[in-house]
Amino acid sequence: MAPAAVILLLCLLSAVNSLPPPRTSFLLNSADRPLVHFSLPDVHNTTTLLLSEDGSTLYIGARDAVLSLDVSQSDVISLKKKVVWGPTKNEILSCQNKGKTPEVDCPNFVRVLQRINSTHLYTCGSYAYSPHDAFIDTDSFSMVQHGAAKGRCPFDPLQRNTAITADGELFTATTSDFRGVKPQISRHFSRDGRPDVSQDSSVGLLEEPVFVGSSLDPAEKKLYFFFSEVGKEFSYINELRVARVAQICKDDVGGQRILQKKWTSFAKAPVLCQSPKQLPFNVLQDVFTLQPPAGDDSSETLFYGVFTSQWSSGPESAVCIFTLQDIRTAFGGSYRNFDTQNHQWDLMQGQHSYVGKCGLNNATDAELNQVKKSFLTSSSVNPVANGPVVVSSEQTYSRVAAMRTEAADGKDYTVLFLLSESGFLHKVVLVKGGSWVVEEIQVFTGPQLVKSILLSPSKGVLYVGTSQGVTAVPVATCSVYKTCSQCVLARDPLCGWDATRRVCAGLGSGSGSLAQDLENGNVKEKCQRRARAQLDTGKTELNVRLNEAVNLQCVKPSNLATLTWTSPQFSRNQDKLFIQSADGNLSFFATNATFGTYHCEAEEAGYTEVVASYDVQQISPMRPRTNINERGVSGNDEPYEEITTKEPEIPVKPSDTDDFMTEPESDDNNETAIPTQDSGLSSVQFTDLARIPSAGKSPESRNEPLGEIRKEKSYHSELVVVSLLLVFCICILILCGLHMWRQSKTANKVDSQVSPGTGKKSKSMESVPSLSPEDADPEVKVVQG
Ligand SMILES: *[C@@H]1O[C@H](CO)[C@@H](O)[C@H](O)[C@H]1NC(C)=O
Ligand SMILES: *[C@@H]1O[C@H](CO)[C@@H](O)[C@H](O)[C@H]1NC(C)=O
Ligand SMILES: *[C@@H]1O[C@H](CO)[C@@H](O)[C@H](O)[C@H]1NC(C)=O
Ligand SMILES: *[C@@H]1O[C@H](CO)[C@@H](O)[C@H](O)[C@H]1NC(C)=O
Ligand SMILES: *[C@@H]1O[C@H](CO)[C@@H](O)[C@H](O)[C@H]1NC(C)=O
Ligand SMILES: *[C@@H]1O[C@H](CO)[C@@H](O)[C@H](O)[C@H]1NC(C)=O
Repeated sequence: MAPAAVILLLCLLSAVNSLPPPRTSFLLNSADRPLVHFSLPDVHNTTTLLLSEDGSTLYIGARDAVLSLDVSQSDVISLKKKVVWGPTKNEILSCQNKGKTPEVDCPNFVRVLQRINSTHLYTCGSYAYSPHDAFIDTDSFSMVQHGAAKGRCPFDPLQRNTAITADGELFTATTSDFRGVKPQISRHFSRDGRPDVSQDSSVGLLEEPVFVGSSLDPAEKKLYFFFSEVGKEFSYINELRVARVAQICKDDVGGQRILQKKWTSFAKAPVLCQSPKQLPFNVLQDVFTLQPPAGDDSSETLFYGVFTSQWSSGPESAVCIFTLQDIRTAFGGSYRNFDTQNHQWDLMQGQHSYVGKCGLNNATDAELNQVKKSFLTSSSVNPVANGPVVVSSEQTYSRVAAMRTEAADGKDYTVLFLLSESGFLHKVVLVKGGSWVVEEIQVFTGPQLVKSILLSPSKGVLYVGTSQGVTAVPVATCSVYKTCSQCVLARDPLCGWDATRRVCAGLGSGSGSLAQDLENGNVKEKCQRRARAQLDTGKTELNVRLNEAVNLQCVKPSNLATLTWTSPQFSRNQDKLFIQSADGNLSFFATNATFGTYHCEAEEAGYTEVVASYDVQQISPMRPRTNINERGVSGNDEPYEEITTKEPEIPVKPSDTDDFMTEPESDDNNETAIPTQDSGLSSVQFTDLARIPSAGKSPESRNEPLGEIRKEKSYHSELVVVSLLLVFCICILILCGLHMWRQSKTANKVDSQVSPGTGKKSKSMESVPSLSPEDADPEVKVVQG
């Protein structure tokens, strides 16, 4: 009976470990994961976001302005219209006279932007510490009317508030006074001549609340407001904050004598987010409402709350999930009674089935008097799985958005976007047995007091509004994963490897089934031999002088990978000749004993692949110094920024593979076979190798690439011969072409003879291995043989 989403959630274990570090990190303006920014020099504090129903226009509430932006293109955001809306000089002066700083406090910071009906937007701004609101015609994008709006948005632009529209009526939760101490949940623009309704102020319904979100339950005609406040029911602890959800009935018109034009349906319930035997995460930072899949019952609506703790000494936060059904149950249960004489809470005596219900407009005075003091439920709203689904002991998350997505295995997964205080967006996949962070994307630097995120799953974009501007973050950029192994290891439900096109593609791009393994990231299983492309690991030749310092770079393909260098030279020399830096570099001095090959292997989730290969050779006096194939160093310039803790030590593993073959063309189905084939890469085995002729060659012949003969992989001989022939032909062609080009180039010069320089050049060309990804076989340089 229970829909799949709930079963999925129940599988999420309550014992949650802290989130692992993000697998990959993209710093601000990273070229690998491009974001689209919008900013204008005269537009600031672009923090209130609203997307049009068709997804083509993004409305933005800014400082002294409301903008409409064209977001129909995925790669550019452009300004459509702008309405300037700020206080006059006199109004600013008056704000200043009340002790406020003109530039900081007295502009009009737009804090509410909502669609009120099919033709108009509603907006409310702090307006020089004197809230004003206005309607905007969406067609002409002109402001049609505006006036004072106390109680609809806060005076203080840094105070949080929330607003929601339903059937043309506006519901707001904000403070309603200059000092910002009088909270107010109210309805405005009430339909059909019914009165605007607000909250009873004769009792303390709310205690220093900070409103973070609101949501509509259309089936029960109720609205929910999420906030944290001081928990007065815990009179024994000073200033204990409690996360809450409050309800009101959308059509509440108040009582007849008692509670006139006041909510007769207001009630609040504690919201718990706590790991067993841990202090609770009691401060709610943000809530995201995830509607159930189309066709499912609305009671399956989920609320994703991000919480921090009042007692945290460092960065720490958690995400808890609540179901609409559990919230309905809490408000449908029993209530506490507020004893106005002793200012204490006790359990309500007797059953009062009308408390917390809608439609009390004809209720008796006695009933409404009871309602007045019974507005706190006895039971709390507990999270799904009775605890957080995400706990981070390293990040203070303050905003959350969630989307449900169908992965390649046909199952639904939930992807969370969590915005950290330090400006990183973490993309988290929730699964049973522990969640993980697919990637982190830096969207701003430095703290942002006011910010917001807006997710559009249909557009596949998450918008971030900050003081500086608006940033569109694609929910996935699968093309950052260049190989099947990286694509599968990413375990991103939005990305899978397309074996035919040989790209990491977004799901839903509809080209058959994509390789993906969310639970295990099993590359061996998911990446078939041929499709299992390598990182772009051409071998880099380094020609160095004797005693020169050599620094070999190895960039981790992901933050979770561990790097290991292998080289025959390691057993030939004492280890102390080699220094590995924390970021993976290998450094040593070029000596007769350290010339040779070096491979850097990355291990992740039980899968090992070579990510960089070097052949360090002594510079030959015969040749000009060439440093061929610079880009081969790691395949990418700087694909991953390291943010997280670094491995202090990179293990060094001796290897007897004098030359290295990139695996993908191999028929070997065992990806780890490259290192393990020669497993026990001990010095013993190396001694064996030292005896065989190829290893015993003189240093000069070692300088010649063809001197390196592999004793293993004889099953490749046919392939090798064919490719050798092919490459030989290509080289001949290149040489001929080069020769002719040279000749034609020098034709206008007197000397038409092939100069020694040309000869030299062509000689160096011979050693240019063709290391394009298409024929990445390093053997190609064995041409001269
Ligand atoms: C929408 O609301 C505005 C402002 O109240 C009003 O002027 C306009 O007539 C309304 N439009 C419709 C279609 O209800
Ligand atoms: C409630 O009272 C109104 C008049 O105040 C009346 O019109 C209505 O029928 C009553 N509804 C019920 C359910 O008694
Ligand atoms: C507006 O932006 C400035 C930075 O440009 C920031 O310092 C300030 O806190 C922001 N104010 C509000 C109310 O968002
Ligand atoms: C590692 O090598 C790269 C490229 O040569 C260099 O930029 C970086 O500074 C090196 N890191 C260390 C710690 O030496
Ligand atoms: C290095 O090898 C060259 C060529 O074989 C030789 O001349 C030189 O003496 C060797 N140097 C050392 C330090 O062994
Ligand atoms: C792959 O390598 C592992 C580790 O050495 C080995 O246990 C396994 O038998 C190999 N599998 C195949 C198919 O060769």
